[in-house]
Amino acid sequence: MTLLALPGLIDAHVHLREPGGEHKEDIASGTAAALAGGITGVLDMPNNVPPVTDGQQLERKRRLFGERACCDYGLFLGAGEQALPRPEDAAEAVGLKLYLTPTFGPLRLESLGALLAIFKGWPAARPIAVHAEGMSMAIPILLAQLMGKRVHLCHVARADEIALVRAAKERGVAVTCEVAPHHLYLTREDARALGALAQMKPPLAGAEDVDALWRNLGVVDLVASDHAPHTLTEKQSAEPPPGVPGVETMLPLLVTSVHEGRLSADRLVGLLHEGPQRVYGVRAPEATVEIEVGGHLEIRAANLHTRCGWTPFEGRRVNARVRRVVLRGRTVFEDGHVLGRPGSGCQLRSA
Ligand code: NCD
Ligand code: ZN
Repeated sequence: MTLLALPGLIDAHVHLREPGGEHKEDIASGTAAALAGGITGVLDMPNNVPPVTDGQQLERKRRLFGERACCDYGLFLGAGEQALPRPEDAAEAVGLKLYLTPTFGPLRLESLGALLAIFKGWPAARPIAVHAEGMSMAIPILLAQLMGKRVHLCHVARADEIALVRAAKERGVAVTCEVAPHHLYLTREDARALGALAQMKPPLAGAEDVDALWRNLGVVDLVASDHAPHTLTEKQSAEPPPGVPGVETMLPLLVTSVHEGRLSADRLVGLLHEGPQRVYGVRAPEATVEIEVGGHLEIRAANLHTRCGWTPFEGRRVNARVRRVVLRGRTVFEDGHVLGRPGSGCQLRSA
């Protein structure tokens, strides 16, 4: 067995559900799950209840995180047709999140007018993170080019999408992108067996899409979990909401790929430490994440800290285990125990 020591890692796409969805997850349980997964900072999405679309909601959520987070955090502002963001709120947000296709929650942009107004008003220095799938991914890429804004494409999942991102980057368009671990490790074959437990937006794709993501990892700026917990009862209902938990399983899965020689340790640091800092202009806190590599383990929901109590990776073999996490000189996780206290997390600062 060997020990791998990594710097502070940021999961740049999570949904910790507070305020409004605390029965699925809350800030304390979600940030504890992050630490247990070797993640020292999370960037939380705005599709709360109510959605975080103005400075007041953002400030309310910032206070909640200040009281309850066990790891560091940054918060996104959201926008809707009737809730255009005010540029002065940009300073407090890590970025703006736009939804161009339907997903969980009411935030959705449908009109070109609203989209253009948002792009026009948003400061060029702060990224606009976009949920787009398939054809709609071409829209933010064009707007990044035309309007000189920084666009980040969330959870790129398919061969044609990553090909488009590559082409845009090769032409010098200022876009960045992320890939989610479920799109790197699961296919629609798995979805057949797992049913609603493998339903998320964007949906799982074919083996050829998974291959394309791995082959094009060089154009991927960061890997982020899109940790989107829902309860088992909700997932087993007639209309299951899309989304799967992932903040706690992302690093063991990726380190297993390092162990298998599919990914270098340097590239892993690029995707979880350097990438999130570069894309969102934040500084990762001083931290060390120690991982034991080489053992034979299985992912089990029973060992996870997320409130939702299940994982789409149940029973999956991994060769890596988070042993200890030290954040700002304090041991915040060790051998299965979260030691970081709610309120000890800090807001991630601009670099
Ligand atoms: C997310 C959620 O449940 O909040 N669901 C998902 O399938 N990814 C929303 C989102 O990020 O699209
Ligand atoms: Zn998401």
